[in-house]
Amino acid sequence: MSPESTLAAATTTPADWTPKSWKSRPIAQAPEYADGAALEAASEKLGALPPLVTSWEIERLRSQLADAAVGKRFVLQAGDCAETFGECTPAYITNKLKILLQMSLLLTDGLKRPIVRIGRIAGQYAKPRSSPMETINGKTLLSYYGDLINGPKFNETERAPDPQRLLLAYYHSAMALNFVRALVDGGFADLHHPEYWDLNFLDKAGMTPELRAAYLTRVNNIGNAIEVMEIIAGQPVDKVCSVDFYTSHEGLSLPYESALTRKVPRRSGYYNLGCHLPWIGERTRQLDGAHIEFFRGIRNPVGVKIGPKTTAQDLLGIADTIDPAREPGRLVLICRFGQGKPKTVLPPLIEAMRNAKRQPVWICDPMHGNTVSTSTGKKTRHVDAIQSELIDTIEVHESLQSILGGIHLELTAENVTECLGGASGLKENDLDIAYQSLCDPRLNYEQAMETAFLLARRMEA
Ligand code: PEP
Ligand code: CO
Repeated sequence: MSPESTLAAATTTPADWTPKSWKSRPIAQAPEYADGAALEAASEKLGALPPLVTSWEIERLRSQLADAAVGKRFVLQAGDCAETFGECTPAYITNKLKILLQMSLLLTDGLKRPIVRIGRIAGQYAKPRSSPMETINGKTLLSYYGDLINGPKFNETERAPDPQRLLLAYYHSAMALNFVRALVDGGFADLHHPEYWDLNFLDKAGMTPELRAAYLTRVNNIGNAIEVMEIIAGQPVDKVCSVDFYTSHEGLSLPYESALTRKVPRRSGYYNLGCHLPWIGERTRQLDGAHIEFFRGIRNPVGVKIGPKTTAQDLLGIADTIDPAREPGRLVLICRFGQGKPKTVLPPLIEAMRNAKRQPVWICDPMHGNTVSTSTGKKTRHVDAIQSELIDTIEVHESLQSILGGIHLELTAENVTECLGGASGLKENDLDIAYQSLCDPRLNYEQAMETAFLLARRMEA
């Protein structure tokens, strides 16, 4: 296909699509609002508010994702399973940005590629649930679907979907993003310097002397490289290079997503201006469903979560619908298969895409296929299972000469105890110490840094 025809195809909005055409399709994971008129009023108000991101940022991300698909960049997409309005605080946002930046430096050093940093941040407020209802002591209420939809407390008022929460989600996203932009623009110089990192976990029991030494060497490399760069430039590193940072969330609430989807002057098509990279969850990617219908018409790059039951036919159907023009950087496949699965599930999917002359961004999400319950019913994940899925995924891509373009993690910079294992050897009994997640268990600071170290080592260029 010539560059001209790619451009022509890429800039066309499907003739039968509008930001609201999803309304005529069956919709999954969409609790009903009691007051339809109030929902309409909130959507209309949201539709009149300023965008959170811009079309040129979205286009820049798309071109960086096109690079990631061919191995010239690597994506680090990470953050909370669910953000909450209560955690929209300076410390929380700063810490999340810090850990993402630190991990991205480790990956740059190992992979020798620029890292595309994408937070699950500033809008990750809506959650699909495996069960629509929750029963406690004989009482049954709607499950908690994330702060954008209802509240976590177990009473009728909180659990009822409230249209005002669409606006609250927008306000909290705007506040978070405003602070993220300020931090990224300046004042973050010390983050580039490993001497400020908390590396106490290197002294923990689970760390062998050999691994510890390898990690310290990497950290020293980064410190030295930055020092040399600052000497040559004669100024601090944050003045020399700016940090790109993008936002992403699951586009679960279509009233919210479509209200933020707009036409932009001097560009064709519609952009979802609520975040740079929205994704479709594993539970809402039915080919004839509302979510696929909505996403096929927006100009943003689109993430699609794919689980272990995905067939080559499913995937080709999704790809043809979301990305008929085979635009570089348009389709991001976030694979979440579970430990032991990549070796059987991934090869036919890679082959199918290759035979269809497609080069998506393949991302490994080693979190969502590895959720297990403890004997006391706590949701957790084993760091070993997460790392094993990641390593298997790298091996499959290598053996098929395909390209792993990125990693997707659920993590927090806080010292939580939600996932098992890691250098500190967290055990089931420890989970109660600091289990804070309202949804899925996240890697804590050390477990996330360890995973980044492992990836940098395994994909060392
Ligand atoms: C998530 O990313 O939090 C999520 C719910 O993922 P998935 O759709 O892959 O289950
Ligand atoms: Co999750």
